[in-house]
Amino acid sequence: MNHKEIIESVRKEFQADSDPFPTTTQEIDALRNKYLGRKGVVANLFGKLSQVELELRPEFGKLLNILKNDISSSFESQVSPSKDQSISIKDYSLPGWEFNSGRQHPLQATLNEIKSIFTGIGFSVAYGPEIDDDFHNFGALNFPPEHPARDMQDTFFIESDIVMRTHTSNVQVHLMEEEEPPLRYIVPGRVYRNESISFKSYCLFHQVEGLYVDKNVSFADHKGMLEFFVNQMFGPKTKMRFRPSFFPFTEPSAEVDIWSEKRGQWLEIMGSGMVDPEVFKSVEIDPDIWSGYAFGMGVERICMLKYEIDDIRLLYQGDLRFLEQF
Ligand code: PHE
Repeated sequence: MNHKEIIESVRKEFQADSDPFPTTTQEIDALRNKYLGRKGVVANLFGKLSQVELELRPEFGKLLNILKNDISSSFESQVSPSKDQSISIKDYSLPGWEFNSGRQHPLQATLNEIKSIFTGIGFSVAYGPEIDDDFHNFGALNFPPEHPARDMQDTFFIESDIVMRTHTSNVQVHLMEEEEPPLRYIVPGRVYRNESISFKSYCLFHQVEGLYVDKNVSFADHKGMLEFFVNQMFGPKTKMRFRPSFFPFTEPSAEVDIWSEKRGQWLEIMGSGMVDPEVFKSVEIDPDIWSGYAFGMGVERICMLKYEIDDIRLLYQGDLRFLEQF
C-alpha cells in the first residue's frame, strides 16, 4: 500500500467504527482514544512519517493532517452542539442594537426657523463675501476713518484694507450696489471678531442681516415687523423692548432686547434702525426718494435664549453629550 492508500483505509475504518456514532460517554471516549489518543491510529501514522521517502513526506504529512482534522470535527459535531446551532437559538427579549441617527445642529435649526419666518413674509435670502474690502465692511457704512471698530482689537485683517467681515452689513452695500430698490432681503452668514473667547463671545459667530428699502418706509413699519418676528420666534407672550442705540449706518438706531425669565435679565438679540442717508449716498441711491430699515441679529444669541444654552462655546465643540440633547 502506498501512503495515500494507507490514509484512505484508516478513513474508511473510522467511518465504519463511527456509524452509528456511539452514544454513551464510555464508547465515545474509547473511539476517540482509538483514533486520536496518544497511542492511537493517527499518532501511529505520524510516527511513520520519518520512514516515508523524503519527496513523498510533505504530501503524506498534509493528508495526515486532513484526516486528523476530519476525525476531530466529526467528534465535535456529534458530541457538542456546534456553534452555529447555538446562534440559531434566538432570544427575542434581548435589547436590540442602538443606531445613532444624525440630527440638526441647534444653530442650524435656529437659522432655518429665522429664514422661514422672513421668507414667509416676502423676504428673499441673499449671501455675500466673508472676506471683503474696507469700503464694504466699513467705509460705505459711514464708519469714520478713525472709528474704533476698525481697530486691530476687533477686526481680523487679511491685508491693510481687506478684512474678515465683522458683520453681515457688508452685504447691505453689495445688494444696494447691484440692484435697484425696492429691496427686501435677509442675509445669513458667518462673521468674525478678534474677541477673547468666553462663555458669551467667540471669535466667529453668525448673523442674519435684514434690509428693506422702498418708498415711505417708516420706523413704525420696522418696529411692527420685528415684533412679528419675535412673536413667531419666541411665542406671543415674549417680552421685548427697543432700546435707543447708535450705529454709524442707521439713524435712528435701536437694539432689541428679549426678557429671559430663566436669567431674570434683558438679553440683546439684534441691532437695527433706519438706513442712514449717508449709506444711500455711498451706493448712489437717492435718499429723497427711497427710505428703508436694516437689522442684524445674532443667531447664537437667539439659539442660546431659545434652547437655554448658557455657554456659546458648546455650539462649536461638537460634543455628542451636548448635541444629543436636541
Ligand atoms: N451690524 C450691526 C452689528 O453687527 C448690527 C446692525 C445691523 C445694526 C443692521 C443696525 C442695522 O452689531
